[in-house]
Amino acid sequence: MNAIQIAIDGPASAGKSTIAKILANDFGYIYVDTGAMYRVVTLAALRAKIDLNDEQAVTQLLPQVDITFAPGEPVQKVFLNETEVTTDIRSSIVTANVSLISSYEAVRQAMTQLQRDIAAQGGVVMDGRDIGTTVLPNADVKIFLIASVEERAARRFTENQTKGMTDTLEEIQAAVAHRDYLDSHREISPLKKASDAVELDTTGLSIQEVVAAAKQIINQKI
Ligand code: C5P
Repeated sequence: MNAIQIAIDGPASAGKSTIAKILANDFGYIYVDTGAMYRVVTLAALRAKIDLNDEQAVTQLLPQVDITFAPGEPVQKVFLNETEVTTDIRSSIVTANVSLISSYEAVRQAMTQLQRDIAAQGGVVMDGRDIGTTVLPNADVKIFLIASVEERAARRFTENQTKGMTDTLEEIQAAVAHRDYLDSHREISPLKKASDAVELDTTGLSIQEVVAAAKQIINQKI
């Protein structure tokens, strides 16, 4: 298969990164977790102890935020200025603040540029919220992955428990719904299905079933 661009967007915890990573591995493409990038900026702002509501202060921090990835199992390794932050960026405090940080124009511009630079290197599977609409509007395949909020929260709850996190199912469901609201109502590049994206509802499906359905969509498009 020629190197193509596959954009996978959708709400929080719909299974985007799990599916995107498997597809990238199967096709020998680069996998880009764009949510991780916004999480790194959020972590950097928290560590710098700046007021997260101060858009200018967050913008001024950007030149000091270097984000890199390295292969890892079960998840890709993520680095902030060469220090590994793979686990730190998944903390509840980062999750609670990432939608605010990702709503800032300068943050979006910097991350979009970084994402496009990586995509220019070859075949790519990129997951996020605005990949099909803004980052790679000419992507060969666009998939919009959805699932019921109950199922997404339940998946996240199970995942969190294996990591020893103590948030309750109700807290997670409320946080997921709130983040979706913020992400889809922000001014710049809101979470939105691209007009040429194919919607895939993963409610009740296993990972294998979602991968098979995604490959069917990819095969129809190329
Ligand atoms: O994918 P994940 O849940 O890790 O994304 C964390 C947050 O990063 C999202 O809730 C959203 O605020 C932001 N994000 C974004 N645009 C993307 C990817 C993520 O605004 N392309």
